[in-house]
Amino acid sequence: MEAYALEFANLLLRWLHVIAAIAWIGESIYFVMLDNSLHPPRGEQSKKMGVFGEMWSVHGGGFYHNQKYLTNPAELPNDLHWSFWKAYVTWLSGFGLFAVLYLFNPAFYLVNPGSSWAWAAAMSGTAASTLAVAFLVLGYVLYSQMCRYISPDMEHDGLLSAAVGVMMVVVAYLSTQIFPGRAAFLITGALMATCMSANVFFWIIPGQRRMVAALKAGQTPNPIDGQRGKQRSVHNTYFTLPVVFLMLSNHYSFTYSGPYAWIIMSLFIFAGAAIRQYFVLRHSGKNQLAYPIVGIVMLAAIAWLAAPAATPLADAKGAVSLDQVRTIVAARCMECHSAKPTQAGFASAPAGIMFDSAGQIVAHAAQIKQVVASRYMPLANMTKMTDAERAAIASWVQQ
Ligand code: HEC
Repeated sequence: MEAYALEFANLLLRWLHVIAAIAWIGESIYFVMLDNSLHPPRGEQSKKMGVFGEMWSVHGGGFYHNQKYLTNPAELPNDLHWSFWKAYVTWLSGFGLFAVLYLFNPAFYLVNPGSSWAWAAAMSGTAASTLAVAFLVLGYVLYSQMCRYISPDMEHDGLLSAAVGVMMVVVAYLSTQIFPGRAAFLITGALMATCMSANVFFWIIPGQRRMVAALKAGQTPNPIDGQRGKQRSVHNTYFTLPVVFLMLSNHYSFTYSGPYAWIIMSLFIFAGAAIRQYFVLRHSGKNQLAYPIVGIVMLAAIAWLAAPAATPLADAKGAVSLDQVRTIVAARCMECHSAKPTQAGFASAPAGIMFDSAGQIVAHAAQIKQVVASRYMPLANMTKMTDAERAAIASWVQQ
């Protein structure tokens, strides 16, 4: 019952999380597009009112005329539209989901008995959960301090971006050494998403509040507030595509279960940022194909690095029968992968995959070989599968 309640909570939180994220990212992409599509105002009236740029568009059966002011609109109405709840709800629902799935089940998902670092391999569930949360908190603190010290006046933003890139490679490396691959990708994505939400919460919104307060008091707002908000907002733009990839990666175990997981993760982060850059420039009228080409070359490198090895395990001696495979699977997999799992914490077969009948095993043969060879399954090797058994399965699938 408790396992079912957690699974249902997982479903509801995931639904909320995806919807909030679509709303947030959609609006954020819209505003970046708007900002980059602005033209100098055409009408005399607009010029006189201090309009910085404007954009005309057609959408949903009507025409829209957006105008941007920097810090000096002639009047500021009270019904100003603010964007922040979508960002906060995305983070809160995402953290809730992370808690329900990972933090409550650290033994399955966060402990990595296969880690080459002895202390990480020996970590308790509580220690792994604490460390996962520490990654999010310390990751944001480090990123934010880098923004403050490397480019406090927005004069070294290029250097800052490079430093953030290096930081992400280090995080990718550390997380894949400490946590199982699936959790490592998710935690790195969650770290970037935490920076995005914290940028909104600690920098963008407070700065805008100060600007509005100054205008209402008849003073000129301090432009640094707008510039700092913009710096963080630009980072958020380049984080978006990598974060969405990292969140989706848990459906594709080949991305995170091989030896090059940290390189694959880093390449995805840079490919996402490069592809995003193409669209950012495109909206300001430039068609810089070099960016998507770099992105595609990186994706091709990932496809090559992530390809399952041809002979991952020494072949078992002699022919392996389906009956032998059924015995191995029954002992090592079926406490989870069954219509009625006996493993506590599972209300239904994980990933919808069951091995109750021979037909089900045959239907999933290729997938079974891949997850067993990469040691992704059994999860955290809970059922203590041996190398001989992995080799037997590989041989049987090859036959
Ligand atoms: C302790 C529980 C547990 C055991 C034991 C276990 N699995 Fe899994 N398995 C899971 C969970 C949870 C998932 C879903 C994780 C995910 O979505 O990547 C999963 C997912 C899978 C998938 C889908 C992965 C993908 O990337 O699509 C396959 C295939 C699989 N398991 C095969 C096996 C095989 C074969 C065994 C036995 C050698 C096994 N599992 C043992 C819990 C378990």
